[in-house]
Amino acid sequence: MLGLKLPTDPRWVNIVEKNIEEILTDHAYCEQKAASTAISLIIGFPEKSELVKEMTALAREEMGHFNMVHDKIIKRGWVLGRERKDEYVVQLMKFFPKGGSRETHLVHKLLYAALIEARSCERFRLLSEEIDDEELSEFYRNLMVSEANHYTMFLKFARKYGNKEEVDQKWNDLLEYEAQLMKGLGKKETMHG
Ligand SMILES: [Fe+2]
Ligand SMILES: [Fe+2]
Repeated sequence: MLGLKLPTDPRWVNIVEKNIEEILTDHAYCEQKAASTAISLIIGFPEKSELVKEMTALAREEMGHFNMVHDKIIKRGWVLGRERKDEYVVQLMKFFPKGGSRETHLVHKLLYAALIEARSCERFRLLSEEIDDEELSEFYRNLMVSEANHYTMFLKFARKYGNKEEVDQKWNDLLEYEAQLMKGLGKKETMHG
């Protein structure tokens, strides 16, 4: 699904279930980072009006998700903790070489964003299906749909602003790299861990 080459080991949900506070904290910051990425694309590429418009809507939507996760944290009697480091994203973003033209840089940013959305969507689906918590199961089912739309939107923009064949090749290479990365993951109670 979603072009991903390696599914998450469903046992990851068993790890998550033991520490709901941790997964919600990490998840809240995933939404915040998604909003920040949308804003950084606006700042970096203001002349791309269609991108600016969609990133404006996305930043709002992602902060809406942040708010929903934050509400869950408060409802359960917790307080939002400090930001968790996303090792997956750090490793993922080492894939494309640094430098290159502004357009190349944009395509790489869009492909990274597409992949993070796709993997998040897969994780949300897994949580919705496997988690032993009625409320969170429904919560993740709803979020899964939004993330699937985000994944296709980022891919659409990458193909629009880059050379389509080159973009498709890069997307495929990035998917292969991510699958390798995933082999060592699925063991922590974080959204991408
Ligand atoms: Fe989101
Ligand atoms: Fe998203």
